[in-house]
Amino acid sequence: MTSTEENTPWWRSAVIYQVYPRSFADGNGDGTGDIAGLRARLGHLAGLGVDALWLSPWYVSPLADGGYDVADYRDVDPAFGTLDEAAALIGDAHALGLRVIVDLVPNHCSEQHPWFQAALTAGPGAPERELFHFRAGRGPQGELPPNDWQSHFGGPAWQQTADGAWYLHMFAPEQPDWNWEHPEVRAEFLSVLRFWLDLGVDGFRIDVTDHLVKEDGLPDTAGHHHTPHPWRDQEGVHDIYRSWRALLDEYTGERTFVAELWEEDPQRFARYLRADELHTAFNFPLLRSPWDADALRSVIDATLAAHALVGAPATWVLSNHDTTRHVTRYGRADTSYDFDRAARHGLPVDLPLGTRRARAAALLTLALPGSTYVYQGDELGLWEVEDIPDHLRQDPTWLRSGGVDRGRDGCRVPLPWAGAEQPFGFSPERASAAPWLDVQPDAWQALSVAAQSGDPDSHLEFYRAALRLRRQEGGLGDGPMDWQDGVVAPAVLDFTRPGSFRCVVNLSAAPVPLPPHEAVLLASEPLADGKLPSDAAVWLRAAGEG
Ligand code: GLC
Repeated sequence: MTSTEENTPWWRSAVIYQVYPRSFADGNGDGTGDIAGLRARLGHLAGLGVDALWLSPWYVSPLADGGYDVADYRDVDPAFGTLDEAAALIGDAHALGLRVIVDLVPNHCSEQHPWFQAALTAGPGAPERELFHFRAGRGPQGELPPNDWQSHFGGPAWQQTADGAWYLHMFAPEQPDWNWEHPEVRAEFLSVLRFWLDLGVDGFRIDVTDHLVKEDGLPDTAGHHHTPHPWRDQEGVHDIYRSWRALLDEYTGERTFVAELWEEDPQRFARYLRADELHTAFNFPLLRSPWDADALRSVIDATLAAHALVGAPATWVLSNHDTTRHVTRYGRADTSYDFDRAARHGLPVDLPLGTRRARAAALLTLALPGSTYVYQGDELGLWEVEDIPDHLRQDPTWLRSGGVDRGRDGCRVPLPWAGAEQPFGFSPERASAAPWLDVQPDAWQALSVAAQSGDPDSHLEFYRAALRLRRQEGGLGDGPMDWQDGVVAPAVLDFTRPGSFRCVVNLSAAPVPLPPHEAVLLASEPLADGKLPSDAAVWLRAAGEG
């Protein structure tokens, strides 16, 4: 971990690795990644040089949305292991110097959650239903949804029950939204936070942070023109996070919150990161930005300005379990990311170009002020698997959009670890079942951890080197940066950090000369005649200083 000051909290500067447990490593051979597999591979993460893990949900879940549909917030799904194994994993990770952040899903639960089942059974008007958003329908027979809200996964955000009432689900129908006006819901989540803090976790990633509170009366979105939107970013969410922060601060050990927040207005974004609320939030503007010097520069400047409003550190994110892997994104003609996955799915991809840019982007993001996220497989240079046969697609967005949205399975394909045969070490030999998403490309044989280890030109060894250097460089992570404009060439990002550290990223079409320097610390591509090639980045020890 790097920091400019000895006592800077770890989360201001950390490199955090996202584990999608189903697809990381299968320990028991049933085809689903699990805690046993993760424990056995923790050495890979410690050796990679990250500071912390964030685990996508591992709770008891029917997996209608990959675990973001939680049936029991205080236990682990048997598919992933047991609570004892979870505790042991946290202990193992800590012993290796790795912190552990778990995912918390407070906007909705699973339809299998006992409180929702009780609400269904209790019937219209019962107090059990007040924990959720049950309403009568519109129309003469109540046959129409109560309002016009649309689910993020397609179709109306309302599901009718057998007794005619409707309940709200901003995501899949299997994910009923909690009613955060209800004191029992608030008390329950404070208790869940305590449960995991007592078990030793170092923090929480908060799912759809801004959705919890809905506008009074659940007004239609049609004709609703004022800010905030009726189902997101309501003022009331801030009270919730203040109460969570107060609870977290009772614990020692620099525990932390990171918000999933797709908020474009920097002022409104920053409000979540006020000193008595959440610590950090994912930086999605970077993930959406095209591979273009001006666009990236303006995202970086806007990000730093927004965070400066509240003194919070920025985060840098290139990929996650919901978005197209950036090797693929950066290999297309249009390198930006859009939720409309259908719009870009299957467009031509130049994978070598995307991979090259991904290496440069790694040096860029690891050099920027704040903390950086690595999504599992980023370190291997994995790409989005786009040719998944339709009958194997599992993401609810695929089914609910009637096949228009190709879904998020392509970034969730099980990791390749070793060997010449599929599933390349994801499951142990003689596994009882094929991987849950059995679509690894044959070419991933060459991208497995074992295949890349020891090859100095490999993506993995490049990541290891970058992370090693990032730890050694006292000026990286949280702290100041200074643009060095007009020194190298147009379409180049060039900045310095404390300790005579300089990062240059060439987004122009031609090689560029390096600025004066004492040493090249690491380059994403071999330099050609001392020049930095196009779509490459370099870390330098700047000239003339210590
Ligand atoms: C978040 C998660 C995503 C999930 C959704 C609903 O966006 O990252 O995977 O489907 O919330 O919980």
